Amino acid sequence: MVNKISIKISLLYFSIMSVILLVSLVVIHEKMVDGQVQTELDNLYQRGNSHSEVLESHFDEETQDHIVLMESKTTTDVMILDDEKRVISSSVQPNDEIEEILNRDISEMGLYGGIIAADWREQPYIASVSPFVRQNNDVGYVYMFKSTGRLQALIAALNQHFFISSLIMFVFLFISMFFLSRALTRPLLKMTEATKRLSKGDFTVDLPAASRDELGELSAAIQLLADDLHRLQTSRREFLASISHELRTPLTYIKGYSDIVSKNHINDEEREQYIDIIKEETEKLSKLIKDLLDLAKLDQHEFSIQLDEVPLMTMLERVAGKVRPAFQKKQLELVITGSGDIKAVVDPVRLEQVLLNLLDNARKYSHQGGKVKISVVKEDKVHLFIKDEGIGIPKEDLPYIFERLFRVDKSRNREMGGTGLGLSIVKELIEAQGGKINVQSDLQKGTTFELILEGEL
Ligand SMILES: Nc1ncnc2c1ncn2[C@@H]1O[C@H](COP(=O)(O)OP(=O)(O)OP(=O)(O)O)[C@@H](O)[C@H]1O
Ligand SMILES: [Mg+2]
Repeated sequence: MVNKISIKISLLYFSIMSVILLVSLVVIHEKMVDGQVQTELDNLYQRGNSHSEVLESHFDEETQDHIVLMESKTTTDVMILDDEKRVISSSVQPNDEIEEILNRDISEMGLYGGIIAADWREQPYIASVSPFVRQNNDVGYVYMFKSTGRLQALIAALNQHFFISSLIMFVFLFISMFFLSRALTRPLLKMTEATKRLSKGDFTVDLPAASRDELGELSAAIQLLADDLHRLQTSRREFLASISHELRTPLTYIKGYSDIVSKNHINDEEREQYIDIIKEETEKLSKLIKDLLDLAKLDQHEFSIQLDEVPLMTMLERVAGKVRPAFQKKQLELVITGSGDIKAVVDPVRLEQVLLNLLDNARKYSHQGGKVKISVVKEDKVHLFIKDEGIGIPKEDLPYIFERLFRVDKSRNREMGGTGLGLSIVKELIEAQGGKINVQSDLQKGTTFELILEGEL
């Protein structure tokens, strides 16, 4: 179930929010009720006090009647008692509950009296008592009563409001939980779908622009993976298509010329010329297949590199010896400069392969009668330059020349005919030996490749 994590998080969110909400609602409710009750009690006591103050100065029947009349018109009631606790005047008919309150002991309350009945939940009345001292020093008491029915009704209404508001809050909470879970689930579902498609080989995944959280990062990572795989798949397809084309071209020549050679109507000279072409194309084909094998090995990391301290000049002379005939054919001068004691830490077999490739390029892309210079300089590393005065490489193509199958001139003739694998092999071989390769080129002026190699073990 994909929804699981979102349900878990949403439930956690729902429970935490519910607890917070409930606790705050209960606290607010209690505070409000307490406040309301306290106000009622205070008002009652204040009222009793003001009556007792009046009675202290004017204890006559008229004042008592006046107070009783006043109270009979309100929601509170008053009872005036003498020092023996006998009722002198009252706005209410005493009943059992009132009697019970009147009989309570107030000796502890002191001069100012106070609240005598506060249990608004259980009892029918709340009550206060305010003692007063008459001018003749006789004591009297003003008892104030208020029926708790109204207070209970008020608080019942408050409870109802609270109930409705909490219901509304829970509905909102539920709705927000729904949206939260959707916000979580949606990208997850999209990512799951995307990875399923990836596993089936469909790399055209398009995940929506990601948010900046962890989910967004995950989504961006999947998108990156999909894009990389897509690019890899495309380049592999293109590579295979070009390779089959590269393999077919020499084969077409070989087949075509061997057909002609086997005919009788050509003379010996022509036959020799055609056989040369067949040889050349066969060589090209075996070079191509060897390059492909090398690349496959490099990809699989099956190339074993054996580093050794190699005296560079000796090695360069030997390699130059191998290419000299081809250079002479094109009247190219090949110069080597550098100090004889320079050594480099390389794999001699692989470095020779690199040099042959670079020199092959220098020869192929140089004009007849030009000059190719190999020079070695030792700084903290060993720098080996191969400089030609050939056709050069356009600036915009320079970043791509180390890519497989890249050629500047796509429409070359048979003689020029490379496949564009050479430099990609060179780069990988040099890097496998811990070295680096750079190129610098000016169109129609020449190209310089620089190898940077380790000088000491
Ligand atoms: N010294 C150079 N001068 C001018 N252009 C060059 C030089 N070296 C390489 N290039 C350009 O870079 C491209 C890639 O070179 P690379 O050696 O990879 O392929 P190639 O020589 O065409 O074929 P291959 O080496 O596989 O037989 C060449 O096709 C050529 O256009
Ligand atoms: Mg080449």
